[in-house]
Amino acid sequence: MKLLKITVTLSFIAAAAACGSAPPPRPAFVIADSKSYEASIFRQNCAICHGQEANGKEIDGKIIPSLRYGDAAKKSEQEIYLQIKEGKLPMPAFKNQLTEDEIRKMVRFVRRDLQGKDD
Ligand code: HEC
Repeated sequence: MKLLKITVTLSFIAAAAACGSAPPPRPAFVIADSKSYEASIFRQNCAICHGQEANGKEIDGKIIPSLRYGDAAKKSEQEIYLQIKEGKLPMPAFKNQLTEDEIRKMVRFVRRDLQGKDD
C-alpha cells in the first residue's frame, strides 16, 4: 500500500516536472478563437505585451516572456497571482483594472488554458 502511494506520487511529480518546460500535451489553446471571458480580458489587457497568442514578444529590444512555456510555466499559482495583481516592472499592476475575481480567473486561464495544467 505504501509502495503504491510512493509510485503514484513519483509519477505525479514526473508528470508535473514534464509540464514545466515542455509544451502542454493538449492541442494548443487558440486565444483568438476563444469566446471566453478570460480570453477577452487577455486580448484587451495582456496581448499588447505578451503577444496575441501569449507566445511572448520583443518590444524595443526587450523580451516579454511567453505565458505558455519557459519561466511562466515554472511559476506557482501564487506567483502568477501576485505578478498579475501587483505587477513587476515593466509589467503594470492590474489590481486597479481587474477585480479580484477577474485576477483569479486570469491565473486559471494562464495555468489551465495556456499551460495545460489541471488545476
Ligand atoms: C506593459 C507590458 C505588459 C502587460 C500589459 C502585461 N504584461 Fe505580463 N509581463 C510583462 C513583462 C515585461 C514580464 C516579465 C517581468 C519580469 O521580468 O519578471 C511579464 C511577466 C508576466 C508573467 C510571469 C511570466 C514569467 O515568465 O515569469 C505573467 C504570468 C504575466 N506577465 C501575466 C500577464 C497577464 C495575465 C497580463 C494581462 C492581465 C499581463 N501579463 C500584462 C509585461 C506585460
